[in-house]
Amino acid sequence: MRPLAADQNSHGTTADFIDTLSSFSRLHRAQRWEGTFGEFLGNILPGNAVALARTSHEYIWDMLRWHGRAAQPDAPESVRARELFKRELFGIDEPLSRVVDYFKAAAAGSDVGRRLLLMLGPPSGGKSTLAILLKRGLEEYSRTDEGALYAIRGSPLRENPLNLIPTSLRAEFRDRYGVNISGELSPWARDFVERDFEGDFVRVPVERVFLNEASRIGIGTYAPHDPTTADIADLVGSVDLAKVAQIGDEGDPRAWSWSGAVYAASRGVLEMIEILKVKREFLYLLLTLTQEKNVKVSRFPLIHLDETILAHTNLAEFHKFLQEKENEALLDRMVIIKIPYALSYRDESRIYQKLVSGAPAFRNVHLDPHVLNLAAVFGILTRLGKSEREGLDLPKKLRLYAGEAVEGVPETEATRLHAETPEEGMTGVSPRFVVNAISNAITRGNTHSLTSMELLLALKDSIESDARMDAKQKKAWIDHLVTARKEFYNRWVKEDVHRAMFASFEEEAQQLLEKYLDEVEASLDHRQVTDPITGETRAADERFLRSVEEKIKVSDSGKMSFRQEVVRKAMVAFKTGEKFKLVSHARMREAIEQYLFEERRDVLRLVTSTARPDDDARQKISVVQQRLVSEYGYDEHSAKEALSYVTTLLAQE
Ligand SMILES: Nc1ncnc2c1ncn2[C@@H]1O[C@H](COP(=O)(O)OP(=O)(O)OP(=O)(O)O)[C@@H](O)[C@H]1O
Ligand SMILES: [Mg+2]
Repeated sequence: MRPLAADQNSHGTTADFIDTLSSFSRLHRAQRWEGTFGEFLGNILPGNAVALARTSHEYIWDMLRWHGRAAQPDAPESVRARELFKRELFGIDEPLSRVVDYFKAAAAGSDVGRRLLLMLGPPSGGKSTLAILLKRGLEEYSRTDEGALYAIRGSPLRENPLNLIPTSLRAEFRDRYGVNISGELSPWARDFVERDFEGDFVRVPVERVFLNEASRIGIGTYAPHDPTTADIADLVGSVDLAKVAQIGDEGDPRAWSWSGAVYAASRGVLEMIEILKVKREFLYLLLTLTQEKNVKVSRFPLIHLDETILAHTNLAEFHKFLQEKENEALLDRMVIIKIPYALSYRDESRIYQKLVSGAPAFRNVHLDPHVLNLAAVFGILTRLGKSEREGLDLPKKLRLYAGEAVEGVPETEATRLHAETPEEGMTGVSPRFVVNAISNAITRGNTHSLTSMELLLALKDSIESDARMDAKQKKAWIDHLVTARKEFYNRWVKEDVHRAMFASFEEEAQQLLEKYLDEVEASLDHRQVTDPITGETRAADERFLRSVEEKIKVSDSGKMSFRQEVVRKAMVAFKTGEKFKLVSHARMREAIEQYLFEERRDVLRLVTSTARPDDDARQKISVVQQRLVSEYGYDEHSAKEALSYVTTLLAQE
């Protein structure tokens, strides 16, 4: 990764940004609407009745589909509808699909809409992020034509104006517009219509509303603080004594403070953070709210509320909750969706990339090309469950989960393997832990360059100094660091260095492959090979063939069948008009790479062997180093380290 050039072209971006801001505010202004309920019925309702009668679940489902409107058109609906979350959440597509399916079913009127959605997952696993995306998605959608929402003006519940239509006229309304009105006016609105309009609801003012968390419009958040002082008034409000003094009647809805979180969330979503930490009394209220769509407060009849509750909790809290027998009935009224950690190291690496690029500590810090992938490999190793299958160790499983080919295991096995260990991803290291370890290393070392080996040391340090972990777990995690280095990093860095020893590795490898094929064909047909320069003929170069084949341990007795297989593959490629490429034959590729590498191995010996390298040696080393920098994403510091690291590896082989 290269440091970002922050100031590049800053003029253009500033101007662009101001443009965006002003078009945003223009749009926002243009969309406002105000009028009486009569005008609303005449101007807004016709043609829009279905959209205007949507419940919060239907609204959220439409919002999700709206955000996915540009996604691949032939993908299934529930895949497109998770597009909103894919902006920021990686590697948890399956759980995201479950969340999306919940809204789809709830919008269709299924019973799941009457159960509370509870996201259950390990710390820093993306639950809050998912909730934030949903909230931002709602805010954005409410500003579009499709997402236009209207409310009785001044109502603390922003209730749907259609609720003004009296019950006795609703059947006629349904016949005319094809939609059912199920909502009820709140005590506040009933009083408002009577007091200010003598019951003439057609004159009641209506306005378009824009969901906004900061202004507590249609989006509410509740986080439990100290349970002993927590008051149910935070959720449902209380008598406003100052107003009672003014109005003189405690039962007057105007004397009630409608500031509770459930009112803020009306028409939209209520996010309940750490829901299982709240008092039981609160939990009952919320479950009734989801199930019956109303809340009961002391002075008023039931208050109808249309909103979606999105709750989250962590595993420790959940297990505690499960232990209490009387909670069983409550669990029955929740839809629990697990939000685990990512299990593909490639996705995990994207998460780190995201976190790192937003953190000031990383500004102008160069990471060598494997730092994040290597950290991710460690992260996933801590999350995987051991497989019962013979020969399938954790590194192999990890590669399968990342979609890589593993010899002897079909790619489709990944799903089945995961099904064998369903708790996988619910434990292990969190993205935060890893990113904190990296940023500590950077701040402490006051460095502008971090290499993979330095990363491993930083992680080791963080593990050893973590007070929450016991010795056994520390040991297990440090073993994972060793595995990540041996099974992944060594291979990656060797490959970089090998390649950097050639001006054009791909070209030379291709030439060598073609030479190998020519010689094989000659040897199979017992033909003579003609030297292109001297014109002399000779027999196939058996020594060359064997020296390539020995790199991948093709035995003398197995060489014929190996050669035949390679030729057959080459013929197939030839028939379809393509060149036989190294990428299409993994074993051949390995053989050729090894062969080429051994040819140049001496260059690396120069790195260590000569205490005082002569000019020629220095020149050769510096060329490799420069290629690592210009073509393989290293900086000078990490290129040097990679070279000497690979040299040490070679000495051990
Ligand atoms: N799968 C993921 N994809 C992208 N980013 C992720 C993912 N999981 C976690 N993160 C990032 O890690 C950070 C922590 O995640 P978040 O706060 O959403 O977790 P949480 O589940 O709410 O944790 P907690 O239980 O501790 O509240 C966030 O910056 C988030 O963007
Ligand atoms: Mg959280």
